[in-house]
Amino acid sequence: MKGVFVTSTGTGAGKTTITASLARLLRARGLSPCALKPLETGVDPVPADALALAEACGRPELATMADWYRARSPVSPYAATLEGHPPPDLDRLVAALRRTASGGYALIEGAGGLLVPLDRHHTTADLAARLGLPLLLVVPDRLGVLSDTLSIVASAAQAGLSPCALVLSRASNPPDPSARFNAHILSERLDFPVVVAPWSRTPSDLDTALAESPLLARLASL
Ligand SMILES: Nc1ncnc2c1ncn2[C@@H]1O[C@H](COP(=O)(O)OP(=O)(O)OP(=O)(O)O)[C@@H](O)[C@H]1O
Ligand SMILES: [Mg+2]
Repeated sequence: MKGVFVTSTGTGAGKTTITASLARLLRARGLSPCALKPLETGVDPVPADALALAEACGRPELATMADWYRARSPVSPYAATLEGHPPPDLDRLVAALRRTASGGYALIEGAGGLLVPLDRHHTTADLAARLGLPLLLVVPDRLGVLSDTLSIVASAAQAGLSPCALVLSRASNPPDPSARFNAHILSERLDFPVVVAPWSRTPSDLDTALAESPLLARLASL
């Protein structure tokens, strides 16, 4: 399987925003992106993240395949299970992801952050490890991101996972004062590329910004 597993320090970090942009850019370059959200909660009634990703690939049907785990409540997959929803079947999800993304460039968005519990025993890190994909970390470019990022990088290493790049996404304009230093400090400590995604008014503004960053070349080299 060729591609990346997109994860983060937590929910609302910018994963879908950045992944959709990368899918559009890869598609424009003639690669066949397959951007998927295999586990999505808060689906009431549509899987909004999965649809945004699928539409960015020009393949809306990818969002609604029966293989994916969907729960209505906006909680972690394990919490949805505790509310009575059937637990995700990781083996089935992995097989479906491999089958669906075969021959294309996989962009798999995890639910929430890296250590979100999927069931009693597994977290998102276990799903990423089974897929064997490098991690694309997307984190918010705001105060607190230094420790949060270094913590997930340490957790990733412990789980045998390798990040290939970090995107600091700016969801506010003007950015938080810490954003003047975050990329510099993190790039001093990390041995993979650190890229800033500027606050973007429209998806096409974000596409323009990311098209000029080293991120695409990094992804294409995997
Ligand atoms: N670079 C950016 N420019 C403008 N808005 C951004 C940027 N990055 C993130 N955002 C905004 O931040 C919010 C959260 O982003 P997004 O939904 O992509 O996060 P997520 O990590 O996918 O969340 P979830 O854990 O729910 O899947 C959205 O409203 C999105 O538009
Ligand atoms: Mg998302």
